[in-house]
Amino acid sequence: MTNFELYNPVKYVFGKGQIAKLTELVPANTKILLTYGGGSIFNNGIYDQVKTALSNHEIIEFGGIEPNPRYETLMKAVTIIREQEVGFILAIGGGSVIDGTKFISAAVNYSGDALEILKQRILFTDLTQVIPFGTVLTLPATGSEMNSGAVISVEATQEKLTLGGSALFPKFSICDPTVIESLPKRQLQNGVVDAFTHVMEQYLTYPHDALLQDRLSESILQTLIEIGPAVVEQPTDYKLASNFTWCCTMALNGLIQKGVPSDWATHMIGHELTALYGIDHARTLAIIGPNLYRVMFETKKEKLAQYGRRVWNLSGNEDEVAKLAIEKTTAFFQTMGMLTKLSENTNDFQETATIIVDRFEARGWKALGEKQNVTPEKVREIIELSY
Ligand code: NZQ
Ligand code: ZN
Repeated sequence: MTNFELYNPVKYVFGKGQIAKLTELVPANTKILLTYGGGSIFNNGIYDQVKTALSNHEIIEFGGIEPNPRYETLMKAVTIIREQEVGFILAIGGGSVIDGTKFISAAVNYSGDALEILKQRILFTDLTQVIPFGTVLTLPATGSEMNSGAVISVEATQEKLTLGGSALFPKFSICDPTVIESLPKRQLQNGVVDAFTHVMEQYLTYPHDALLQDRLSESILQTLIEIGPAVVEQPTDYKLASNFTWCCTMALNGLIQKGVPSDWATHMIGHELTALYGIDHARTLAIIGPNLYRVMFETKKEKLAQYGRRVWNLSGNEDEVAKLAIEKTTAFFQTMGMLTKLSENTNDFQETATIIVDRFEARGWKALGEKQNVTPEKVREIIELSY
């Protein structure tokens, strides 16, 4: 196992009725900026619960943070906070609103051009330089409620770029599983596939000595396989909803990544597909992930075989089990409503591989993946196999 430090200061408040705890979690005597998305919170009662809990707080609202939150939109909130001396931000939403709020939190006191935060991937580690924030999660998927990363889109250049740092953990996150009752099927499917792929990015690398991390990862994968298809059909079932919510958080709160190598190439390529074609984040992962395992088969096959045996209960020799495990993964994604070819998601795919390879090279990215062997040639192969 490699050396590691585990730091996660998020107060994670889980369960039915927990939104009422905002009264005590949000600081008193501070102006609060409430951030939200396109308005789903007004139809499902979440906004009303928040307002009731915060009836004694001074609140201003900033709505309209879009899925794949845009730098251009978020900068409007940055201006509001600077002008109105807001002391705390409360994000109510899924990954997009929470990520957008992380960017806002970082950008308010940033003295340079805020676009540098994304272009240069500035790390935020000084808590005195960011605006503190909490979250009310409305869509389990990304794990953003318990990590310090964020992904922001720049409309002007059609790019999707990341930021993060230890100062960008939420102070608290309220995760009430009943919020999923109002989610469209598509978003529930996305949540299962995003969480599944988060585990795969940290697990499906090569054999190592971190035995517990492997078992933890396999447990999350098995639980998602067990409950995923059912939660999409019955989001009102609390047993399903609560396990789904907890799996999504556990998949990307840092725990399973400690002491092990990790990949993340599927995400890096997937983000480009969202930036170019607007394909939902999770759907890009279902397109790229299995094809990355195919192209990188020789370096991943031992772990693929372990995954096949332990998660899918397959038997046979290493090559057979490893190959079948990839097919099982694609079939699972298809069961979850994913269209696993790029051409099924956009008509405009013929030049995709060239565009993305050119972008990676322009950013100076020589290689991705746990062994830094996903070279531009491999990226091209993976994308072309995904057409
Ligand atoms: O905007 P509203 O009206 O609220 O509607 C949203 C949005 O249209 C809707 N929704 C959310 N909660 C709802 C609801 N509809 C009904 N009932 C509810 N309870 O769902 C739509 C999608 O929301 P969004 O936040 O975009 O989805 P998700 O949580 O999947 O977030 C995706 C974003 O997170 C980033 C992705 O790149 C993408 O930008 N990611 C963030 C990560 C992180 N911070 O660690 C890791 C991930 O890998 C990912 O990259
Ligand atoms: Zn993801």
